Amino acid sequence: MTKEELYAQALEATKFSYSPYSKFKVGAALLTKKGLIFKGCNVENASYGGTICAERTAVFKAVSEGYTEFSKIAIAESNEGDCTPCGFCRQVLSEFSKDGSILVICKINGDLVEMPLKELLPYSFTF
Ligand code: THU
Repeated sequence: MTKEELYAQALEATKFSYSPYSKFKVGAALLTKKGLIFKGCNVENASYGGTICAERTAVFKAVSEGYTEFSKIAIAESNEGDCTPCGFCRQVLSEFSKDGSILVICKINGDLVEMPLKELLPYSFTF
């Protein structure tokens, strides 16, 4: 699956974003090693700390359905601007990609890039 194809799925996921507070609609598309795609969006809460990002929604959907091995994740915001995964989401992804090889697809400086998680989160926490 190309980065453009997975990014298109992430963009589609933004349509379900529940973001009445920030109005920033994020979508994620997570490709499992078996070839399934789990999509997720950000879901905000009036108690702001209760908000979950699109990437973690997608990861938790997959893990809770029995899929824990992933090859790629794409992240998009509804206006197709830059949107890199936040620190929490990088750490959550690293839990399921111990070697940091999962590929992260996102827009940086207007370009759609694909890079291994270990470049975005070197020396991630583990014990
Ligand atoms: N957000 C994500 O969904 N993913 C990220 O990696 C960064 C931030 C969401 C959380 C919140 O609903 C909105 O974007 C603004 O922070």
